[in-house]
Amino acid sequence: MALEITKYGGKSELPTSVGDELAVLFANNYPPNYAPPVERNDLAAREDASAIQNLLNRGRTYYLGTAGCRLAGFLESRTLDQDDDTTVELMTWLMVDEAHRGNGVATRLHAAFIADAMLRARSRLPKPTVARLGVHNENPARAMYEHWGYSDDGHPESAPEIILMSKPLVPEL
Ligand SMILES: CC(C)(COP(=O)(O)OP(=O)(O)OC[C@H]1O[C@@H](n2cnc3c(N)ncnc32)[C@H](O)[C@@H]1OP(=O)(O)O)[C@@H](O)C(=O)NCCC(=O)NCCS
Repeated sequence: MALEITKYGGKSELPTSVGDELAVLFANNYPPNYAPPVERNDLAAREDASAIQNLLNRGRTYYLGTAGCRLAGFLESRTLDQDDDTTVELMTWLMVDEAHRGNGVATRLHAAFIADAMLRARSRLPKPTVARLGVHNENPARAMYEHWGYSDDGHPESAPEIILMSKPLVPEL
């Protein structure tokens, strides 16, 4: 089935029906074993369309993958520009509904995120940009990120079970 990628960011208004579908996808596929330490807050931040709209208003971007009018997966990201040395394009969540896994949905969502991040990286040159994510050390998705060119970059101080992974984004001139 054809997959369509739609982006919501900046001042985008997320249609309520889409936001609610996203909240259900998030709740049904949230991997509890690999959840961050602030699990309850993290879940509540995406519990319905208005909560997700709030994240959009505060600078998150969503890439949604839709197959046959149903939401198959999403990638959530934000740009951390406060660091003087390097800009971080942070992938905060990547999730694909179980029924749609193994068909390249995550690959397409990630490609859309990287294409946008690369444009921003180019506009900031010569300041360097890295793409970054955090993954639980037991999550098999770690292998997928290595496959996409990310490498281990240490742990956040507050969560030694989370591995930060990054890759430099070097735009072609
Ligand atoms: C991880 C996840 C997003 C992958 O989504 P997907 O749409 O099935 O992934 P894709 O089909 O695009 O596969 C991408 C590549 O990674 C590999 N891959 C996918 N899931 C993998 C896994 N769990 N372990 C190892 N490799 C995996 C695929 O074989 C594929 O490799 P290829 O390009 O050589 O064929 C999905 O399994 C998921 O939502 N898991 C639960 C939520 C989660 O853990 N998200 C990550 C939080 S950091």
